[in-house]
This record gives sequence, structure tokens and C-alpha cells, in this order.
Amino acid sequence: DSAENLVERPSVVTIMGHVDHGKTTLLDSIRNTKVTEGEAGGITQHIGAYQVVENGKKITFLDTPGHAAFTTMRQRGAKITDITILVVAADDGVMPQTVEAINHAKAAEVPIIVAVNKMDKEAANADRVMQELTEHGLVSEAWGGDTIFVPLSAKTGEGIDNLLEMILLVGEVEEYKANPNRKAVGTVIEAQLDKGRGSVATLLVQNGTLKIGDPIVVGHTHGRVRAMVNDKGRRVKEAGPSTPVEITGLSDVPQAGDRFVVFDDEKTARQVGEARSQQALVAHRGEKSIVSLETLFE
Ligand code: GTP
Ligand code: NA
Ligand code: MG
Repeated sequence: DSAENLVERPSVVTIMGHVDHGKTTLLDSIRNTKVTEGEAGGITQHIGAYQVVENGKKITFLDTPGHAAFTTMRQRGAKITDITILVVAADDGVMPQTVEAINHAKAAEVPIIVAVNKMDKEAANADRVMQELTEHGLVSEAWGGDTIFVPLSAKTGEGIDNLLEMILLVGEVEEYKANPNRKAVGTVIEAQLDKGRGSVATLLVQNGTLKIGDPIVVGHTHGRVRAMVNDKGRRVKEAGPSTPVEITGLSDVPQAGDRFVVFDDEKTARQVGEARSQQALVAHRGEKSIVSLETLFE
């Protein structure tokens, strides 16, 4: 995409951290405090991703553990996370999975924002967390480094606005962009077989705009986008860059981490889809794959 076609898109954020440090509580808390009354009833808890609006700008959160997102990236070359939130419990400090998370994010060159969680607890010690993370190369701005630390409580909601502000700040600095005026490409967040609706896949549109009726290849399957539902549970006709959306209309169930590409016509989509499906069998026998979606992806 040439520069003049690119426009700002929402940051895509995942959350990582040691067990029980509050990742799920934080995701729930952001969702609950930032989704407006009218939307709350319709929000689909199971879609695996959601968007919030802060100061008029959208942020996309992937409700998949950061480490899973990073594993997907490594295995399939799909970069789905822009920013990772490293959650560290202020009463517990840096633990083995905290260090693992840092290594994942560094290897993928994804910026880290540290959320020092559980600040409501009596034993909370944010300075100790900052000190410990210094040893892993994350030095707070207050101490002359360039890592953003946000003390917060996922439980009380205190500090969450600051965290969202900091995400917007990183987004401004990194200037995440996409071209909404092209055919969509992106990655599968999750997929399953639904009794009534058939194959249901949650996709993250990463570039372009996905539309109802689009001929599409998703991993080793294909189809035409029959219906789309957004994270608020509403039917939509299109989904732009950084938007999570649930679609039906695929001939089979793809896998999380699979890439998708929209084609000009259904015939080509079917041919590519069928070739890739054949190839999956071939690859299974240890032979090399030839039709790659990766080449079509950029
Ligand atoms: P795993 O997914 O199992 O790795 O855990 P997690 O990181 O998602 O942590 P989770 O959100 O399940 O929180 C673990 C425990 O910490 C729960 O009992 C939460 O209620 C509690 N907790 C999370 N955030 C806070 C907080 O800000 N303050 C306090 N006091 N407790 C919290
Ligand atoms: Na837990
Ligand atoms: Mg959890």
C-alpha cells in the first residue's frame, strides 16, 4: 500500500503476565467500565476480542492470552499484536512467567506497557516491581528509561483510564496505519462449529475492509462472508482495519492463527481454498506446500 492510502487504525492490544496476577480481571474491568450502557446487554462475551473508545479513539483488545498470540505469530508469521500489557501484581512482584512474557514481547519487537496491578492491596509495592523489572531491561521513565509503568487496580478500576491513555500515546508514537480501501486480509482469532450456523469464525481484520458477500480463503477453507456480527453483538455489513468480527459462510472450520485473504471472485477463492485444502493433506504426508497465503497477504 502506498503511503497516501494509509490511515490511522486502532492499536491491537494483548495482555500477558504471571498466573493470577490479574490478566482476566483487567480485561473484564476495561470491558465493563468502557462499554456504554446501551451496548452492555448486547456485548458478546465469547467473541474473543473487543473494542473500547477512549477520548474518541478506538482500542482493540484481544481476549486471548498474549503468549498464545505470540506463539501464533511465531508459527505462522502473523503479527497480530501491536502492544502488550505486562501485568505484574504489586504484592507478588516479578515471577517466572513475567520474565517469559518479557522475552516473548522483546523477540517480537512489540512495545510493552507495564500494568502494576493490585495496588489496592496493603502489601502492594510498585517501587519493588519497578526495581525488579529494571533487571530485565524495563526501566521506568521516572528512572530515566523509556518503559511506561501504570499503577492500577483491576479490582477497583483505579488507574485504568491512565492505562488507556498510555495505550493511545504509544499508538500515536508508533503510528499504526492501514488502507481501508482494499480487500481485507487478517487472522483468525478463534473458530468453532455451531449447530445452527455452521462454521463460525472470529476474524481480526488487519488491513482493508471486510464486506458481506466477499469471496474469502481462510486457512485451508474458503467461502463467502454470509453474515457478520461485531463485538457488541450487532450485525454489520463491513469491518475495517483492527476490527474483530464474527463471520459465517465458510465451508469448514479454520484454526486460530490461520490467515485470511479476500479475493475478487468466488471461483478463484474456491480454487485457492481447494488447492490449500489438498495441500494440507500433502503437507501432512511431509511434502512441501506450494500455494502460500503469505505471498498474497502483503
Ligand atoms: P490466570 O489466567 O489463571 O493466569 O490468572 P489471571 O492473571 O487472569 O488472574 P485473575 O484475573 O484470574 O485474578 C487472579 C486473582 O486476583 C483473582 O482472585 C482476582 O480477583 C484477583 N485480582 C485481580 N486483580 C486484582 C486487583 O487489582 N486487586 C485485588 N485485590 N485482587 C485482584
Ligand atoms: Na487465575
Ligand atoms: Mg486469566
